[in-house]
Amino acid sequence: MDTIFTPTNYFRVLERHELFPDDNPLEVDLGCGDGSFLEAMAILYPERNFLGVERLIGRVEKTMHRLKQRGLTNARVLRLESLYALGWILPPSSVSRLHLLFPDPWPKKKHHNRRIYNHTNFHSVLSQVLVPKGEFLLKSDDLPYFESGVEVMSLHANFERLDWLESAAPYPFTDFEQQWLALSKIIHRARWRKLTV
Ligand SMILES: C[S@@+](CC[C@H](N)C(=O)[O-])C[C@H]1O[C@@H](n2cnc3c(N)ncnc32)[C@H](O)[C@@H]1O
Repeated sequence: MDTIFTPTNYFRVLERHELFPDDNPLEVDLGCGDGSFLEAMAILYPERNFLGVERLIGRVEKTMHRLKQRGLTNARVLRLESLYALGWILPPSSVSRLHLLFPDPWPKKKHHNRRIYNHTNFHSVLSQVLVPKGEFLLKSDDLPYFESGVEVMSLHANFERLDWLESAAPYPFTDFEQQWLALSKIIHRARWRKLTV
């Protein structure tokens, strides 16, 4: 199985088993960067599957090589735009956890509409791909960005915010997170659960 997943047809929704041959829970890392989080999660949780979604080819290649070197069969990377992957490629009710870690914060007001959760269909595609009780996890070093994400999520009654304790379960640092921690930046985190089917 290739560590890069290339759909044979970009105009139809995938079948679950096209991504991974087993029925293990699927987690998606949107904007997976260099794949270090994906790699660490795949090693920590061999009973789960992990798909990284990334649009930059250099980062996709880094991720591919990283996963290949480790011989991981429960993690793959898809080179695609995040919202397209969620809305048009991933099977409905297939994702148990969706990770959005240190996304580009687009700090200028005129660019706020580029923030992923400000896209009009973000909430519907998020609901569409998550399994019942599936989770959405967000981490950011940028407080205004983080707060606006929390506000947007609070508008949606079919998501409830959960505690996310550091000690709850191992959750490796991402590449960007390590860079921000080295600069003593504060990391903000939030976790939501989908309530309805
Ligand atoms: C700031 S980096 C964070 C990378 C990684 N999550 C980490 O924490 O180390 C954001 C990543 O998201 C990717 N990205 C941004 N917008 C995207 C989109 N619309 N679709 C896919 N990837 C995207 C970027 O190419 C970049 O690799």
